[in-house]
Amino acid sequence: MVKPSVLVTRRWPAAVEQKLAHDFDVELNRSDRPLTPSELRAAFLKYDAVLPTVTDRIGAEALDVPKAQTKILANYGVGYSHIDLDTARRHGMAVTNTPDVLSECTADLAMTLMLMVARRAGEGERELRDGLWDGWCPTHLVGTKVSGKVLGIVGFGRIGQEMARRAHSGFGMKIVVFNRSPVAPEVLERFEAVQVESLDALLPQCDFVSLHCPGGPETRKLINSRRLDLMKEDAFLINTARGEVVDEAALAQSLMFETIGGAALDVFEREPAIHPMLEQCTRNLVMLPHLGSATREARQAMGFRVLDNLHDFFEGKQPRDRVA
Ligand code: DGY
Repeated sequence: MVKPSVLVTRRWPAAVEQKLAHDFDVELNRSDRPLTPSELRAAFLKYDAVLPTVTDRIGAEALDVPKAQTKILANYGVGYSHIDLDTARRHGMAVTNTPDVLSECTADLAMTLMLMVARRAGEGERELRDGLWDGWCPTHLVGTKVSGKVLGIVGFGRIGQEMARRAHSGFGMKIVVFNRSPVAPEVLERFEAVQVESLDALLPQCDFVSLHCPGGPETRKLINSRRLDLMKEDAFLINTARGEVVDEAALAQSLMFETIGGAALDVFEREPAIHPMLEQCTRNLVMLPHLGSATREARQAMGFRVLDNLHDFFEGKQPRDRVA
């Protein structure tokens, strides 16, 4: 039987690349740089499957090719707001993602960010490495206690729930949830969480707000200057979801004028570029380079999950993670 042809747009963990190469007729992007829109268009004319990541902009410009050969876009990652689902559907392409396998690691990183910004760990490390530390002192780099505080979780899917688990059971935090659909009572009970009806109702109650909603047009700039003004003046915003969910200029202003306590970001609207106003915020802003799922375990599991979806698809079954 002829093996389906597959293009992988970035380098993946070696064990997954080997299995892919065994099971499919694979073309690897050995240069490991994001493909240009014209390279993507050429790929849709040539390969049965394209395996993109968040660094590939798969909008109508790339997808609108006559006589596309590609039948499935099996995304390496849970978020898929970089793929235009409607256009993919129009071209008869299935789209899958990789949920579950990265939820714990992404929640671990959100906790890391929350602790870093509250306890001023980034500032402390920079100071020490710059040779500026002159010893212990009662008023030096005094931060904010995390344990027992109120955590608002925006988006209560798998990652949001893993965040709640850590914050509630490890840190005794009180959990308030905003989710676009009602959360099952037994799920809320697990974390003694309360669901509120609107984001505007959540923001003024929280000491920390952690974003776990999908990206895309519906959540674009969900956190804007009006909503930042609803936060307590000593509250912290954590974003491990998608950069576009936050109005970055508005956030930078809130940080500069200290109308909120601080922010910690793992994702940005125009990665790898950082908004110039955010770059100027040093004291109360922690930034990481999109590391949410960056563990050996999660990245390997994501790859094998893509493989499962491909096998299902080419064996004529419904892929378990089909989103379009
Ligand atoms: C995800 O899985 O969505 C990560 O952010 C990488 O794309």
